[in-house]
Amino acid sequence: MYDLILKNGEVLTPSGRMECDVAVRDGKIAALGQFQASDAAEMIDCRGLHVLPGVIDTQVHFREPGGEHKETLETGTKAAIAGGVTAIFEMPNTNPLTITPESLQWKLDKAAETAYCDYAFYLGGTADYADQLNEWENLPGVCGIKIFMGSSTGSLLTSEDDAIEAVLKNGRRIVAVHAEDEQIMAKNKAEMLDVLAPEDVTVALHPKWRSAESSANAVRRVVNLARKTGRRVHVLHITCAEEIEILRANKDLVTVEVLPNHLSLYAPDCYERLGSKAQQNPPIREQNHQQALWQAIADGTIDIIGSDHAPHTLDEKAQPYPKSPSGTPGVQTMLPVMLDHVNNGRLTLERLVDLLCHGPQRVHQIAGKGRIAAGYDADFTIVDLQKIREVTDKDQYSKAGWSPFAGQKLKGWPIYTIIRGKAVMAEDEIRIQPGYGQAVKFRETL
Ligand code: DOR
Repeated sequence: MYDLILKNGEVLTPSGRMECDVAVRDGKIAALGQFQASDAAEMIDCRGLHVLPGVIDTQVHFREPGGEHKETLETGTKAAIAGGVTAIFEMPNTNPLTITPESLQWKLDKAAETAYCDYAFYLGGTADYADQLNEWENLPGVCGIKIFMGSSTGSLLTSEDDAIEAVLKNGRRIVAVHAEDEQIMAKNKAEMLDVLAPEDVTVALHPKWRSAESSANAVRRVVNLARKTGRRVHVLHITCAEEIEILRANKDLVTVEVLPNHLSLYAPDCYERLGSKAQQNPPIREQNHQQALWQAIADGTIDIIGSDHAPHTLDEKAQPYPKSPSGTPGVQTMLPVMLDHVNNGRLTLERLVDLLCHGPQRVHQIAGKGRIAAGYDADFTIVDLQKIREVTDKDQYSKAGWSPFAGQKLKGWPIYTIIRGKAVMAEDEIRIQPGYGQAVKFRETL
């Protein structure tokens, strides 16, 4: 007898698409095959639907502690399950920063009480604590080390080569890097934003201040340091053609993330339509860069798609640029935005599963999640590729309460989010209380 059977769906297995049923027992995948409804306590009819492994969003900012008016672990994870996401990895640029075991434990305790989905946390990598990272990176609930090479939201900054090297030298887990070059950006700011008449300083300058040269140079530097120390690095949210060239030449050492926003929005259109709602770091760039990102999806350079959910309130966003903070909400819309691209023929559903499920599992060495395979956690995201719906601000569970995609009709939506055998979201209804989520586990480092 099983607890749950997913019947009649098209299942995205590691061997490809299969028309089969999935049987679940004790929160784990028990078997794939043909089963009767009477074989289980519960059956979900998936006819006409696709059964994906649970989507893992490896980059979100949920603002707790210190920015609870923008988001909390509770509201952020609720938005996650509404959007078909079964686990999130959260970033350390909170206040206080997540750079010590104590600050990590605070988040783990809060998440155990309030999270709707499974979770893990990045530890910020700083020169001050570099010597301890060997030990701290293996604390339960840590998904990796995060370095900000360029200043963004919050005060976490590790911009100098010797500081970055100190972090890379200590440990073996994945180091995720926000690669923008602080010096180049400071120079651009001094030559442009600081000297222009106030009325000429608009958000359209964002990709000029935080230039492609700044992103490419930071990637070049961190790849050199990775080579020198023999440490693999995960380059987050790449945005430009120049970065891709460098990363392609170093794929033995680097893994790469791209965001739905950079694949979907482009300059100058996004700044004209959305103003500072399109402001994020690294910035949304011109269409030639976007084409290069799609090419990097097609040729395998990209390993992961993450949302970089970075909520700020509309009031905060309405401040004049560059006071307006950078970042957009995205955890709830990541999957429908990408399914819409599948429907438009930009990538296959198989490749999307690789980027949202298999890729996170590989890069972070997640134990027992990210694949539909016997013995793995029974995490599923069940989607209707035919469903068309408009994104609206009012449907967003994020405290920010808005989306850069509001007003767009997307084709392809999650219908069920299942975590460890439990349907936590079914047809837009949230079916659990906060506190259901658990810490994600990782394989021992080799
Ligand atoms: O636009 C961004 N917002 N980029 C980041 O790196 C940080 C994020 C945030 O936390 O707001």
